[in-house]
Amino acid sequence: MSSKGSGSDTKPGARRALTGAARALRVGVIGAGVMGSNHARVLVGLPDIELVGVVDPLPAHRTRATELTGCRTFADIDQLIAEGVDAVTIAAPTHLHHPIALACIARDIHILVEKPVASSVEEGREIVDAARRAGVTLMVGHVERFNPAVAAIKQAISGEDILSIAITRVGPFPPRMSNVGVVIDLAVHDIDLIRWFTESDIVEVQPQLSSAVAEREDIALLQFRTASGVLAHINTNWLTPFKARNVTVATRGKYVMGDLLTRQVTECFGFKPDGSYSMRHLPVGHDEPLRAELIAFLHAVRSGGVPAVTGDEGVASLEIATRCLEAPARPAAASSPRKGPRRVVG
Ligand SMILES: NC(=O)c1ccc[n+]([C@@H]2O[C@H](COP(=O)([O-])OP(=O)(O)OC[C@H]3O[C@@H](n4cnc5c(N)ncnc54)[C@H](O)[C@@H]3O)[C@@H](O)[C@H]2O)c1
Repeated sequence: MSSKGSGSDTKPGARRALTGAARALRVGVIGAGVMGSNHARVLVGLPDIELVGVVDPLPAHRTRATELTGCRTFADIDQLIAEGVDAVTIAAPTHLHHPIALACIARDIHILVEKPVASSVEEGREIVDAARRAGVTLMVGHVERFNPAVAAIKQAISGEDILSIAITRVGPFPPRMSNVGVVIDLAVHDIDLIRWFTESDIVEVQPQLSSAVAEREDIALLQFRTASGVLAHINTNWLTPFKARNVTVATRGKYVMGDLLTRQVTECFGFKPDGSYSMRHLPVGHDEPLRAELIAFLHAVRSGGVPAVTGDEGVASLEIATRCLEAPARPAAASSPRKGPRRVVG
C-alpha cells in the first residue's frame, strides 16, 4: 500500500492529512455498475489523481470500465489494495458497503461511500466508528448537495428564518430494482437536504407509505419537523412517467423555488401588504455534481479536514429514513394491498 498520512497527529479520531503528498493521489473505485462507472469516468479526468483501478466481480462490468476509462480492473478488492491506494470510492451494492468499508479502513484507506452509507443504522455507525479510530477520511456520497441548483437554494436561504421545505422527487421505476424501496433509495437524498438546509436535526417523523406496484414501498409522502421548528415534506414515488426534482423553501422573507433538473432557481421576496412582491432568477453554476463531490472528497483526504458530508451526517439521514419505514402500521383496512399486478424486487 502507498504511504499514508504525516503521522504527526496520531490522536484517535484525528484525521490524517496526506501532507507532503505532492505526488498524485492513488485512487480506486469499488463497484463498476451505474454509479461506479461514473466515479471512474470523473476520476480519470481529474488532475493530480491516478486512477489505479476499478474492482468488480462481473467480467462484463470490468470490460465496460476499461473501455470507458482505459484503467486497469480487478476482480476483488484485495487485488486493488495490493497495488497501493490512498483512497477508494465504494459504489458496490448498499448491502456490501459495510464489509468493504471496514476492509478498507483496516488498511488505512480513505473512503467515499455511496449513499445510503449502509444497509442499517448499526452498520453505518460501525463504519463511522472504525474510520474515526483509524483516523481515515470517511465521506458519504450525498451528491445532491453538490448540485449547483441546490447550492443556489442553500445560499438564497442563508440567514433566513426558514418556515417550511417541500421536496418532490418522482420518476418511473428504475430499470434495475434493488432490494430497497423509495424511502431508502430516493427520499434519503432529500432527508439529507432538509437536514443540511436547516442545519438542524429532524425530531418528528410522519410517514405515509404505499406499495402500489412493487413489493416494497413505491410511494411515500413524508412529513417532518426539525428541532429548529421547520416543517418539511417529501413527495417521492416510482410511479411518475417522467423525472421531477423540485424544491421549495418558504422563509419569513422569501419563497425560493428550485428545479434540480433544469437548474432554474427563482426567489420571490419583498412581500408588500397589498400582495405585491418581487421575483428574480438566481445565478446557478454548471459544475457536474459528481465531479464537485469527488473533488471535495479528495480535498478532505489531502488536507485531513472535515469532509463535506460526514459519516455522522450519512448515518443521521439513514436513521430518519429507517424511522419512516418503522413507523407504526396503519389500521388493517387501510394497509391491505392494492389490487393489480405487483412488481417483485430484490
Ligand atoms: N448518489 C446517487 O445519486 C446514487 C445513484 C445511484 C446509486 N447510488 C448508490 O450507489 C451504489 C451502487 O448503485 P448502482 O446503481 O451503481 O448499482 P449497480 O448494481 O449498477 O452497481 C453495483 C456494482 O457493484 C458490483 N459488485 C457487486 N459485488 C461487488 C464486490 N464485492 N466488490 C466490488 N463490486 C461489486 C456489481 O457487479 C455492480 O457492477 C448503491 O449504494 C446506490 O445506493 C447512489
